[in-house]
Amino acid sequence: MAERVRPLVITIDGPAASGKGTLARRLAWHLGLRHLDSGLLYRATALRLRCAGEGATNVTAAVAAAAAVTEADLTDAALRQPAISGLASEVAAIPAVRTAVLALQRAVASTPPGAVIDGRDIGTVVCPDATVKLFLDARPDVRAARRAADHPDSDPATVAAELAERDRRDTVRAVAPLAVAPDATVIDTSALDAEAVFAVALAVVRRKAGLEP
Ligand code: C5P
Repeated sequence: MAERVRPLVITIDGPAASGKGTLARRLAWHLGLRHLDSGLLYRATALRLRCAGEGATNVTAAVAAAAAVTEADLTDAALRQPAISGLASEVAAIPAVRTAVLALQRAVASTPPGAVIDGRDIGTVVCPDATVKLFLDARPDVRAARRAADHPDSDPATVAAELAERDRRDTVRAVAPLAVAPDATVIDTSALDAEAVFAVALAVVRRKAGLEP
């Protein structure tokens, strides 16, 4: 009988603007794996909810919005708007919203040859058996400066305050809070550029996944 090859799953968790997205895209491309930015699922839920004229206090509407999210939703440029970031972190604190988007994430993870998935709870909740778990972090001032550079028309102090509030909400929530999985490798990206983060992460992935250099 043919041996079943287990998909290679790499999880990258961490706070906002820690460099997860850039690293996930690069690793996925380099290793020939799919990339899923799980934050987009919560952003798409938030966008659908806002388009329905509702807010996160309407739990029924939020869960219906999450259940309606498909991969086709994830390319909408409006998902990156700062207003959607805040609403995404509010809907992400609703347990039934998280349940509604779980199957899509696990389907991506279980499809060969595998995937790189970035988010907040991927190594802890979504893919606890992942091949390699990374956790990216950076000092709050560094992350705020990076996010402000992404939104040059916004006030840097407002960007920093919104980032801090989102991190706080993501860390204290009761369900699937932002946390380092016990078997994750932590990479502090404060003093590293994208190239250096990629080099460090690739070395960890090769070692943990037993890949040839
Ligand atoms: O990663 P990104 O900043 O796009 O995520 C937007 C929001 O979605 C986060 O602030 C967080 O509240 C939520 N999120 C989550 N779990 C994930 C990914 C994102 O709760 N795995």
